[in-house]
Amino acid sequence: MSGVTVEAGATCPIELNLNGQTLRVEVRPWTTLLDMLREQLQLTGTKKGCDHGQCGACTLLLDGKRINACLSLAIMHDGAHVTTIEGLAKDDVLHPMQAAFVEHDAFQCGYCTPGQICSAIGLVAEGHARDHHEMREQMSGNLCRCGAYPNILAAIAAGEDETRQLLEAARLDRESSR
Ligand code: FES
Ligand code: FES
Repeated sequence: MSGVTVEAGATCPIELNLNGQTLRVEVRPWTTLLDMLREQLQLTGTKKGCDHGQCGACTLLLDGKRINACLSLAIMHDGAHVTTIEGLAKDDVLHPMQAAFVEHDAFQCGYCTPGQICSAIGLVAEGHARDHHEMREQMSGNLCRCGAYPNILAAIAAGEDETRQLLEAARLDRESSR
């Protein structure tokens, strides 16, 4: 953004694919992706915990990779594909990682859960869900104040295989439509 002057109060248009739908949003240059979702689009599934990149409650998938939405400005993501917890279920069928969290009772208050699930899907996409030690290490950015960690790990292990298959099918789909 160097060399660009934006007047105080001005907004800039960005276009996103959000949970499979293309939309145009006017954002202020300092609006984070998290605030755009929660405050402008009323998509409150992505949670705000610390707002400082420390808790992982705001984790979502940006172009298939997990990021902390509180640390990223919306204006930087013109043209991006954003997937939030609201976009994971298809036709009322839960994503396998969501189903595994339910099956394994992997939450108590549920506040960290959207971030945990998005992070778990990102973890599988990265190929980092091979054993419990690696899962623990790679999920360490997602805090659970209720301490539901053993069940969260069990859920990720259970949902890993089907999630990987789903990611692979989506990849093949994208390639065949090019
Ligand atoms: S709210 Fe983003 S990391 Fe805590
Ligand atoms: S389930 Fe309560 S913070 Fe994780």
